[in-house]
Amino acid sequence: MSDQVIRKAKRRTILELELELELEQLVGSTMTTKDYDCSIESTCLLKKELEDAVLRIGELEEKLYNLEIRNPRKCSEVPSLNYLKKKRILVTGGAGFVGSHLVDALMLQGHEVIVVDNFFTGQRKNVEQWIGHKNFELIRHDIVHPLFVEVDQIYHLACPASPPHYMHNPVKTVKTNILGTINMLGLARRVNATFLLASTSEVYGDPDEHPQSETYWGHVNPIGPRACYDEGKRAAETLTYAYANREKVNVRVARIFNTYGPRMHMNDGRVVSNFTVQALQDQDLTVYGSGNQTRSFLYVSDLISGLIALMESCYTAPINIGNPTEYTLNDFAVIIKQLIGGKSQIVHVEEAEDDPQRRKPDITRANQYLKWEPSVSLHEGLQKTIEYFKEEVNLFNLQISKSASCTSL
Ligand SMILES: NC(=O)c1ccc[n+]([C@@H]2O[C@H](COP(=O)([O-])OP(=O)(O)OC[C@H]3O[C@@H](n4cnc5c(N)ncnc54)[C@H](O)[C@@H]3O)[C@@H](O)[C@H]2O)c1
Repeated sequence: MSDQVIRKAKRRTILELELELELEQLVGSTMTTKDYDCSIESTCLLKKELEDAVLRIGELEEKLYNLEIRNPRKCSEVPSLNYLKKKRILVTGGAGFVGSHLVDALMLQGHEVIVVDNFFTGQRKNVEQWIGHKNFELIRHDIVHPLFVEVDQIYHLACPASPPHYMHNPVKTVKTNILGTINMLGLARRVNATFLLASTSEVYGDPDEHPQSETYWGHVNPIGPRACYDEGKRAAETLTYAYANREKVNVRVARIFNTYGPRMHMNDGRVVSNFTVQALQDQDLTVYGSGNQTRSFLYVSDLISGLIALMESCYTAPINIGNPTEYTLNDFAVIIKQLIGGKSQIVHVEEAEDDPQRRKPDITRANQYLKWEPSVSLHEGLQKTIEYFKEEVNLFNLQISKSASCTSL
């Protein structure tokens, strides 16, 4: 066979193969009965998937709607201040219980507010009502590291305040109080801002003077479980006055007594949250020790008006901010039981170590220099706090039941 004949034969085979391929494609495009059944089946599947997707979208839309109600995009109206009156204010620990109420008050006065928080015990939701407002800024930052911002006033609140939280990491609590306070005082010096330290009645320790006035030096165990907080705050006060005397920083020191109100932590281990949450869950109210130890309770809005009055005053020595009405823990447990009702009993458990026996502020200074005194009654404050805790307990139970149903799946 000549080469030409072989080439022609090959060419014909290629053409035939190409033709076969084309034919196969053509046949493939027409449907057999089997193909038709498969197609109906997949259409049904797609339809089902589509229906499921529509249902899911409905659920998500509902969730979004509920979230939007809880988190309104529109912030509250704030007055517009002129540049002489409008201040730039830094609130360290501004996402915590007290800090967030202070932020609300300062924002509603029309100031620019910067919150700095590492969210150790603070929550974003405490200040979410201001996120997006032109006067508001939220910075996630740990104050043991330096911070540079231009401000006119610093409210220095960053520090866990409840025993389980500050005892969780005592070294960190001391660092926050010492390094954090040095950083904030350094900032105040650089930008010439007025500095207010949120100190505490714990600087008096387990006091042997009653009521406690600012001249009392305190009775603190320097190596006990509470020392990281008590001594940390005492050192923060020392630093504050060292910067005031040596560096001419304009300072204020508020010695805050036991404060309560909405946005407290459910599990902060303090008496108001403990008793309220226990009573709302029909659990026994646990009183540590005899229950004859006393506490005084300040509603958070009273504390905020005291802090702002102090910042705006010229008073530089330490000043007690607290409610002088004193209750034994036994009496307080009865009040909570009466307000909430339910089947809880009052039970006594072993006394906590270094638990102060008596707490009552002498507020003569605050009265004299700030014209300040508490105005919210215990009954009124507790009603608002109980309403808040009811929602928290419901949310908590909902989360527990959800996670239980997830694990049982
Ligand atoms: N609540 C009271 O009864 C009470 C009483 C006395 C003093 N104080 C003082 O008031 C201040 C606020 O107390 P609170 O009850 O709102 O407590 P809180 O725990 O609710 O708030 C403290 C805030 O500081 C933040 N924080 C902690 N360490 C930080 C760090 N290293 N860097 C940045 N942020 C940090 C936390 O995340 C939280 O938002 C504290 O300084 C506390 O010592 C409170």
